[in-house]
Amino acid sequence: MNANTGRAVLVTGASRGLGAAIALEAARLGARVVLAARSEAGLKAQAQAIQAEGGQAVVVAGDVAQEEDCRRMVEAAVEHFGRLDALVNNGGIIEPISKVAEVDIAAWQRNLAVNVLGPLMLSQLCLPYLRASRGCIVNISSGSTTRAMPGWTAYSSSKAAINQLSRSLAAEEPQVTVLAVRPGIVDTAMQEEIRKTGRPAMAEEDYGRLLGMYQQGKLLPPELPGRAIACMALHAPREWSGEFISWDEERVQDLVRQCTQDQQV
Ligand SMILES: NC(=O)c1ccc[n+]([C@@H]2O[C@H](COP(=O)([O-])OP(=O)(O)OC[C@H]3O[C@@H](n4cnc5c(N)ncnc54)[C@H](OP(=O)(O)O)[C@@H]3O)[C@@H](O)[C@H]2O)c1
Repeated sequence: MNANTGRAVLVTGASRGLGAAIALEAARLGARVVLAARSEAGLKAQAQAIQAEGGQAVVVAGDVAQEEDCRRMVEAAVEHFGRLDALVNNGGIIEPISKVAEVDIAAWQRNLAVNVLGPLMLSQLCLPYLRASRGCIVNISSGSTTRAMPGWTAYSSSKAAINQLSRSLAAEEPQVTVLAVRPGIVDTAMQEEIRKTGRPAMAEEDYGRLLGMYQQGKLLPPELPGRAIACMALHAPREWSGEFISWDEERVQDLVRQCTQDQQV
């Protein structure tokens, strides 16, 4: 584990999957982390894994769709670490997987509340601290924003909104670096949910591609995009602000090499 750099990072959806990996990798890069999600047991297990490597982690159980819970997440960072250098809006849901003709409107609203309004509220609450630290917001987006995905309209619309939120916020806040990041197709509970419930509403081609990737062991282990996202949260150059970036772009991999070299020094 690296010496403590003193930086503090808030990661939502850190109870499992990609968010847990981002938090661990950020701690390995020397950051102190606030882990947030609804399930306290998952958060505590991940905090223990970070502490076992000599890192510092605080957990806040809460729902990003609730403003009061968002407030507690941000306050925890400031109370425990005295500052905030990065917010990673990673917590998210895929459901409802359903065609527009049949979809439950309340489920759509819930998707937007978690995937869009949560990141919006957290961004607003974090801005004063991120301006002060010249910090970064990473919004976890998706490749599904780039083409039509039958059955995924709620999810892909929410991620398209996140891309535009990132672009607009970057233009409004010159002191903060704001990125929307595509993490690739990652082996997490979300992919399991898609395999379990997605077939009826998805195009057979899309469903078969994801199932095939799983069966052939081609889904990404969370630590690969997790490391790239942690590096961007802590070290992305200001010139990238406003962009939609894929975790495996060459410039991102250069940044990862740089970060991990520094770690070894
Ligand atoms: N897996 C992929 O292939 C893939 C591809 C592109 C983008 N992404 C994005 O990557 C991010 C992480 O997803 P994942 O694949 O790691 O899925 P996951 O394993 O299902 O994890 C989702 C995380 O979000 C948290 N979460 C869900 N609803 C929440 C809420 N209302 N408030 C607070 N936390 C909440 C969950 O924790 P609790 O249930 O404990 O709250 C969990 O920690 C998501 O934004 C997802 O859209 C994933």
